[in-house]
Amino acid sequence: MIILKSKHEIEAIRKACQVVAECHRTIAPLIEPGITTNDLERIFEEVMQKHGAKPFQKGYRGYRYATCASVNDVIAHGFPSDKPLEAGDIVTIDTVAELDGWLGDSAWSYAVGQISPTAEKLMRVTKECLDLGIRQARPDNRLGDVTNAVQQHAESNGFGVVRDLLAHGIGRNLHEPPTYMHVGKPGKGVRLKEGMVLTVEPMITEGTYEMIIDPDGWTARTLDGRLAAQYEHTIAITADGPQILTAQ
Ligand code: MF3
Ligand code: CO
Repeated sequence: MIILKSKHEIEAIRKACQVVAECHRTIAPLIEPGITTNDLERIFEEVMQKHGAKPFQKGYRGYRYATCASVNDVIAHGFPSDKPLEAGDIVTIDTVAELDGWLGDSAWSYAVGQISPTAEKLMRVTKECLDLGIRQARPDNRLGDVTNAVQQHAESNGFGVVRDLLAHGIGRNLHEPPTYMHVGKPGKGVRLKEGMVLTVEPMITEGTYEMIIDPDGWTARTLDGRLAAQYEHTIAITADGPQILTAQ
């Protein structure tokens, strides 16, 4: 059962989402060689605290941090650490803030110093996948219209679309129906309706989309060790089309 949200509820979710947006805006100018993902973790916690928001990921299913920090071949769910980021790295920071019982979820990939042309292309195409997917998220379209837009763009650029981690509805819970992969066929899948709030969060890989999880039980890496990037927004489907609640 997909839980539809009223306009009033969407405004409440937007408030949580805007705390996450501010977290990302705050770190964007600070990403440079030498900074650590633990530094970024602390900044995210400070921004959330300032707004009376809770770092929802901390303690969720035993996860111990406010952020996921996924460097290079890590697709998602990496742990923040004291290892300084190096020029040429790409790092994805993902977080969920809880405000007044509502959740906002957004991940962003950042370049550290000068990165390779391939890494640059991967980041650009992944961001374009997010935007193209979101553009299809309007009433009476199907989820397959969203996922196909992502898949087409990634694959036509020679990249892979991760299947093993899912996007999801969101509201008072982090993972609500529908949960879905970013691959599909136009006109297929769940019919989109005004009041749906969900994430669009393509994880795109330089090589294979296959994934392995480290012995820590969380860190998800590309099987071939090549790069991965991810951009994620929480969006609301309205009569006028998609609204990006985590817009920066
Ligand atoms: N923010 C993630 C998502 O996009 C969920 C992170 S899993 C956690 O769905 F356990 F680390 F919180
Ligand atoms: Co997320």
